[in-house]
Amino acid sequence: MQILETTPDSVQMAALQQAGLPIEDLDNDVPRRWWQAVAEDGWLGLIALERHGTIGLLRSLLVRAEARRSGSGRALVGTVERAAREAGCDALFLLTTDADGYFARLGYAPVERAAVPEAVRATAQFSRLCPASATVLRKPLPA
Ligand SMILES: CC(C)(COP(=O)(O)OP(=O)(O)OC[C@H]1O[C@@H](n2cnc3c(N)ncnc32)[C@H](O)[C@@H]1OP(=O)(O)O)[C@@H](O)C(=O)NCCC(=O)NCCS
Repeated sequence: MQILETTPDSVQMAALQQAGLPIEDLDNDVPRRWWQAVAEDGWLGLIALERHGTIGLLRSLLVRAEARRSGSGRALVGTVERAAREAGCDALFLLTTDADGYFARLGYAPVERAAVPEAVRATAQFSRLCPASATVLRKPLPA
């Protein structure tokens, strides 16, 4: 398995949508990088990093059902963490409705909504795309 920087194609966008992950705002002009996990016979998973000042937003993590539980998700998250650190981000945030247990194992902890920084609060994903029940998680990124 390899992780490669990419631009998602229509099949991958459809897969995100099918998994219930928001895609409506992915054409806005927020600085955003994508990576995919690939094997010889095709792509396994996808992830994106958005930059909001010194804050990174991890989003659109998806591993295809048939490729799960092989470490692709963890590898994709690690790639985004490295890229965010290299870009000078001091923390990574994410919103999730049901994968908080997954991210807890990777060092992400819940943040009270009131304590969410304005940069994250202002994102399309936070303000309107995710339901009120979504959890905001944070991981500090030491320099
Ligand atoms: C969450 C997801 C990305 C994990 O991908 P993956 O490649 O299977 O993850 P890894 O191989 O790194 O880790 C697998 C481990 O995480 C656990 N795990 C997977 N989803 C979990 C969840 N929602 N809650 C808690 N643990 C979870 C698995 O049980 C497995 O545990 P094990 O190592 O004890 O067997 C994948 O299940 C997925 O695409 N889910 C749908 C989309 C989603 O929820 N995205 C996150 C929102 S941004």
